[in-house]
Amino acid sequence: MGCLRSSFLLLCALVSTSSQKSVPSAYLEPESKAVDYVNPLIGNGGDSPNNSGGMIPSTAPPFAMTRWVAQTRQNYVSVTPYNYSDTTIHGFQGTHQPAIWMGESGQVILSPGAGQVQPTFEDRGMNFNHENEVASVNYYSVEMDALEGGTVFAEQSATSRVGHLRFTFNDTSDPYILVEATRASVMGSADPSNVTYPIGSIFIDSDAQEITGSNPERQDFIIEPISTPAKNWSGYFCARFDQPFSAWAVVHNGTVFDGESQGNGTTLSGYVKFESNLTTVNVRVGVSFISIDQARKNLEAEIPDGTTLEETAKVTRVAWAEKLDRIQLEGATSDEMQTFYTGFFHTLQYPYEQDEGGRYYSGYDDSVHVGSSYTGYSNWDTFRAEWAWIILFAPERVPSMVQSMIQDYKEGGWLPMWKNIIETNIMARIAAMYGRTVGTHADSLVAEAAIKGMTGFDFETAWDAVYKDATVPPVNDTTTIYYDRQEDVDYEVRAGLTSLYEERGWVANDIHDESASRTLDYSYDDYAVSILAEFLNKTSEAAFFRNRSMTNPWLIFNATSGFMEARNSSGAWAGSAAGWTEGDEWVYTFDVIQDVPGLIQHKGGNNSFVTFLDEYFDGGHNDPTNEAGAASKGQVRIRQIAQSIYNNSVNGLPGNDDCGQMSAWYLFSCVGFYPVNPVSGEYVVGTPFYDKVTINFPGSSKLLEISAQGAPNNVYVKSMQINGQSVQTPIIEHGQLVEGGDIIFEMSSEPQPWASGTLLDLLNEH
Ligand SMILES: *[C@@H]1O[C@H](CO)[C@@H](O)[C@H](O)[C@H]1NC(C)=O
Ligand SMILES: *[C@@H]1O[C@H](CO)[C@@H](O)[C@H](O)[C@H]1NC(C)=O
Ligand SMILES: *[C@@H]1O[C@H](CO)[C@@H](O)[C@H](O)[C@H]1NC(C)=O
Ligand SMILES: *[C@@H]1O[C@H](CO)[C@@H](O)[C@H](O)[C@H]1NC(C)=O
Ligand SMILES: *[C@@H]1O[C@H](CO)[C@@H](O)[C@H](O)[C@H]1NC(C)=O
Ligand SMILES: *[C@@H]1O[C@H](CO)[C@@H](O)[C@H](O)[C@H]1NC(C)=O
Ligand SMILES: *[C@@H]1O[C@H](CO)[C@@H](O)[C@H](O)[C@H]1NC(C)=O
Ligand SMILES: *[C@@H]1O[C@H](CO)[C@@H](O)[C@H](O)[C@H]1NC(C)=O
Ligand SMILES: *[C@@H]1O[C@H](CO)[C@@H](O)[C@H](O)[C@H]1NC(C)=O
Ligand SMILES: *[C@@H]1O[C@H](CO)[C@@H](O)[C@H](O)[C@H]1NC(C)=O
Ligand SMILES: *[C@@H]1O[C@H](CO)[C@@H](O)[C@H](O)[C@H]1NC(C)=O
Ligand SMILES: *[C@@H]1O[C@H](CO)[C@@H](O)[C@H](O)[C@H]1NC(C)=O
Repeated sequence: MGCLRSSFLLLCALVSTSSQKSVPSAYLEPESKAVDYVNPLIGNGGDSPNNSGGMIPSTAPPFAMTRWVAQTRQNYVSVTPYNYSDTTIHGFQGTHQPAIWMGESGQVILSPGAGQVQPTFEDRGMNFNHENEVASVNYYSVEMDALEGGTVFAEQSATSRVGHLRFTFNDTSDPYILVEATRASVMGSADPSNVTYPIGSIFIDSDAQEITGSNPERQDFIIEPISTPAKNWSGYFCARFDQPFSAWAVVHNGTVFDGESQGNGTTLSGYVKFESNLTTVNVRVGVSFISIDQARKNLEAEIPDGTTLEETAKVTRVAWAEKLDRIQLEGATSDEMQTFYTGFFHTLQYPYEQDEGGRYYSGYDDSVHVGSSYTGYSNWDTFRAEWAWIILFAPERVPSMVQSMIQDYKEGGWLPMWKNIIETNIMARIAAMYGRTVGTHADSLVAEAAIKGMTGFDFETAWDAVYKDATVPPVNDTTTIYYDRQEDVDYEVRAGLTSLYEERGWVANDIHDESASRTLDYSYDDYAVSILAEFLNKTSEAAFFRNRSMTNPWLIFNATSGFMEARNSSGAWAGSAAGWTEGDEWVYTFDVIQDVPGLIQHKGGNNSFVTFLDEYFDGGHNDPTNEAGAASKGQVRIRQIAQSIYNNSVNGLPGNDDCGQMSAWYLFSCVGFYPVNPVSGEYVVGTPFYDKVTINFPGSSKLLEISAQGAPNNVYVKSMQINGQSVQTPIIEHGQLVEGGDIIFEMSSEPQPWASGTLLDLLNEH
């Protein structure tokens, strides 16, 4: 594997562990090879136009409320705070930006310096070099050139709600640390000069050695539903220093107010100076969405006074080791190990915790509630594989994650589609390419959790919520088009439900944007609703939604062209290019995962379906999430795709990783099975990549051992045995996995007949 694109060899070399500085041994406790393999710089995207990337090399435990990152540029929608191609660092940011296409919310930034204070972002950047940078899951460090000579060495670790930073000043004079509360906030990527000025606050308390404050910046406010504007939203922070201040000031719009200890307003920061002989300062930064006082409580609860950076880093490493050590690989190269475990690291970041001390701020009703809560739900990405991965590896969090969505429904009226503090009316981009679509896929998340045995959330309210998704259209449904990132509208949910979908079975292309994608996604969501209804013994509802999910996709199947095609309200066909966003009819024609037999039938039966698949891949229309038909063909395709785009370079793990979805696709592919239809409770077998994978599922008393001797050099599956029984269908049940046991594959270098009956037959048999 390694670097496939020669133009990026240089970047690859810098990222490889051999030439990067290694993590100091104090941060390598407890021992975990899996954690050591993670390199948070992988997948940042660097400067490749083909990888808009954006996974930042952040430090935090799994599903952390706040992730800490060196800031190399101002972040906003489509720009993340760290870009591998940059050469200066302007501060250390506690970020809540969950993906490159979403905005930042309530961040706080600490910027160390020496000499004359440089409060302005552009002026305070310090040069650094990747050779002097160390990135790991629990510890990050970088040496920067101070502006007036000497260096500043920055080290960083974090717990969920508290950052722990340590700055060492070498050969500098007049060290200081600036804390930025507010900045000019970029409203959208179209025009970065179009900004707003959020009004925050800052307080400097030299007795307590604290800088506290608030920052209400929430860049996605322009695409929030108009009925839940989260008016009281703010990020709060409490930064506590272990060294006394020798002087301080508040900076407002670039003007320094010496000796001031309090300020409110726009482009606001405060700084403290230290004795000029100071060499090292530790600062812990508690972050809250409730209040400054809560930020202080978070600090005291998670990183109490006297805690060393080493101790903080250890706690965070333990949390990652508890997860990443659950999978052991044999027969993978060290490059493959890096890609695999870094992908695993990516899958356990979102959604992120937003409760603090047993309470949470809800942007839906603008008040504080008791309970657990999560945000950063990218449901149209994650419903396919990321959610299945979380159910397998973090099942202890699933009840709260589902309950959090149910709370959103109670407080805001709907389950989340893409919650980033509150709902955002962002629509699919590059739709379906890697599984990103439109629709109310929280329906799928709830149904999948239910059928996979998750309990501990309120099933009846969950049912009310998904039933509402499937039956209640958005306000002004017939007169709102709902473009991507449409502003000044209410919840988008199933836009087009009344435009014809309920009545005739499709979303009309002359009334709504992305009409064909919507029709297909709503059909899948109807299927998920029917699965939940069945689970809850709601027989007639189950039948109704099952029927709708199996009927509607075929109402937009154009039998002449053999592709899905949007239709207008009159019933007329809208043309092959209409009704998709950036995806096309090739990609979307596969988007009927609830009815693959129907798809094969409509494509003229098995042989012609396999030909269609071949054209699809050979014609460059590939969608790695869809593998069906001839098993051996699927096996070779999965390897090709995985090995051509996933690697351990800055540009590996492509896309913006969609809150873990792309990594989850890769990880499932590596271990040899994939949840093609997430609410089926089944995984379709592909081709395991390694000789052996041993998995210790949380809560399971027995290991799962997947053996596939020779797999690295043999793509094709000749046979599969589960616990000694020979299995002919390429399907593994969820229960079979999590109970543990043995799965033994016999691999071959030649295509094999195993499981190559038509998928139609196989699914019908099943
Ligand atoms: C980007 O992708 C396009 C299309 O797949 C390819 O032709 C091009 O070579 C790629 N560029 C780089 C720099 O990888
Ligand atoms: C990083 O910066 C380069 C140069 O400005 C840009 O081309 C690239 O798209 C950026 N990458 C990301 C992931 O933002
Ligand atoms: C301090 O800087 C000097 C010169 O820049 C360098 O030789 C020395 O190793 C540095 N010391 C530390 C502790 O980083
Ligand atoms: C700035 O962005 C907002 C929100 O998208 C938009 O309404 C406004 O027209 C833009 N202003 C300018 C000057 O482009
Ligand atoms: C700071 O700048 C903002 C935005 O330009 C302006 O509204 C405000 O009055 C300024 N405040 C001060 C104290 O200069
Ligand atoms: C500044 O902001 C704080 C926190 O929001 C508030 O308590 C205080 O009243 C404000 N002060 C002024 C002068 O607006
Ligand atoms: C630094 O200077 C201050 C005051 O000048 C003095 O009290 C302190 O002991 C010095 N610290 C060190 C480590 O030299
Ligand atoms: C919003 O905040 C203000 C000021 O802190 C408070 O008076 C008001 O009650 C809050 N609104 C809600 C809905 O909690
Ligand atoms: C619905 O449409 C009416 C008439 O155009 C408009 O006044 C109202 O604000 C809209 N409501 C929402 C929630 O979009
Ligand atoms: C559904 O019915 C079955 C069979 O009667 C029963 O075992 C199960 O507990 C019921 N489920 C629910 C959620 O009521
Ligand atoms: C859906 O229901 C209708 C009316 O009962 C029936 O004619 C049709 O065959 C059903 N379709 C499916 C796919 O079950
Ligand atoms: C199917 O697509 C073709 C070609 O775009 C078009 O001429 C025809 O009207 C469509 N509908 C049917 C039912 O063939």
